[in-house]
Amino acid sequence: MSHVKFYYGDSVPLEMHKARIVQKINLQPIERRLVAIEEAGYNTFLLKNSDIFMDMLTDSGVNAMSDRQQAAMLEADDSYAGSGTFTKLHNKIKEIFGKEYFLPAHQGRACENIISKSFVKKGTIVPMNYHFTTSKAHVVLNGGVVEEIFTEEALKIKSDQPFKGNMDIPKLRELIQKQGQEKIAFIRLEAGTNLIGGQPHSLENMEEIRKVCDEFGIMLVYDASLLADNLYFIKNREEKCKNMSINQITRKLADLADIIYFSARKLGCARGGGICTNSKEAYLKMRELVTLYEGFLTYGGMSVREMEAIVIGLEETMDENMVNQGPQFIEFMVNELQKKGVPVVTPAGGLGCHINAMEFVDHIPQEQYPAGALAAAYYLVSGVRGMERGTMSEQRDEDGNETLSHMELLRLAMPRRVYSLSHVKYAIDRIVWLYENRHLIEGLKFVEEPSVLRFFFGKLITTSNWQNKLVEKFRQDFGDSL
Ligand code: F0G
Repeated sequence: MSHVKFYYGDSVPLEMHKARIVQKINLQPIERRLVAIEEAGYNTFLLKNSDIFMDMLTDSGVNAMSDRQQAAMLEADDSYAGSGTFTKLHNKIKEIFGKEYFLPAHQGRACENIISKSFVKKGTIVPMNYHFTTSKAHVVLNGGVVEEIFTEEALKIKSDQPFKGNMDIPKLRELIQKQGQEKIAFIRLEAGTNLIGGQPHSLENMEEIRKVCDEFGIMLVYDASLLADNLYFIKNREEKCKNMSINQITRKLADLADIIYFSARKLGCARGGGICTNSKEAYLKMRELVTLYEGFLTYGGMSVREMEAIVIGLEETMDENMVNQGPQFIEFMVNELQKKGVPVVTPAGGLGCHINAMEFVDHIPQEQYPAGALAAAYYLVSGVRGMERGTMSEQRDEDGNETLSHMELLRLAMPRRVYSLSHVKYAIDRIVWLYENRHLIEGLKFVEEPSVLRFFFGKLITTSNWQNKLVEKFRQDFGDSL
């Protein structure tokens, strides 16, 4: 995709696949969308698929599978114990990551549960480049504390730093020296750092983290859920990796980690997940929990069909033409929005296009969830479902105070190989319109607020009837258009 030049006009991302199965999607009129978002408590997680035109909530479990993955699913070898499919998956993990032991789990957060239960004790610390919602929740549930060790660039919305997901090595050293290495449960490095806009870390940074781990005798746990995007960025942005294959880069990264875990809902375009390691001790410690929480060791909560799909999905992830599809579509979207002055996170990362709600709706205080309000408003005017990644995704402190997040983002995830460029252009058009009418958007407040992971199923209402004003303006500008 990246190597095709266009003779006329600008280069556009060119897909190296074709669609052979399609699914009908609905674009409901704005009046129906208003009812839908109200019923959903202004929480895009609670919308129904039948009311959604483009689903950009997440890339989790919704990437398009390949024909080879679908075909492999028919060959699956079903059995509770000793399935041939599991052996295939185990062998693929060994081949790609070079890790001897593999524990299957039903998805990424199940891996996090097992790792945290095994290694996090009350009062221990887990330094991370940045937290992810479920990874932090599991550390905290086990009595640990998360320390985010990001660089100064990480939280800058506009930046030209190619690896905003890097850890700040001097800060990491300082933390360990101050707290004592025995208090560090492990260091967690996340590929394609989700909550700061899908931003990658470099191979060089991971090599430096490894040196710190060796110096202090600390384990390095690598969250490879968003590895595919990170591989693309390492190959394209890190000088010393330009001539390395995706396979070679993967192996270099994997060799630096003691434990690797992943959500196969992302990595491998399937469903499920797993943990791999070369440490027999760590494997044995985690093994008991897999049988307790996930299932027997040769399926771990996954169906054999899913495992077959992961085997092929991982293999296909080693193809540059596959891993570049997401980042290049995202880059297109980010560039077009920038041209129109819409505030977006730069440089373009993986996972999706991230809109800076803090600037987009700078009149909405963080306590009224600007990113949540923007997500609801955007669905209303477009039928496109994005996800709030800001204060709503945080948890209140012990005294019930809001934890204001560092960033207020509307994430528009790009499911891989699912939408066409005309879909993406439609999504851009409606954001630009909304930006011109941003003064109409106001805040949200909770009416039902769960204490844990409230963003998933909490319900809110608008702080004024701004939703109606937005519908009215839409009708003025778009006439009877959907
Ligand atoms: N780690 C990262 C970096 C993730 O992005 C996710 C999931 C997980 C772990 C947990 O994996 O969903 O299989 O349990 N991210 C999804 C998202 C939910 O929409 O970004 P899971």
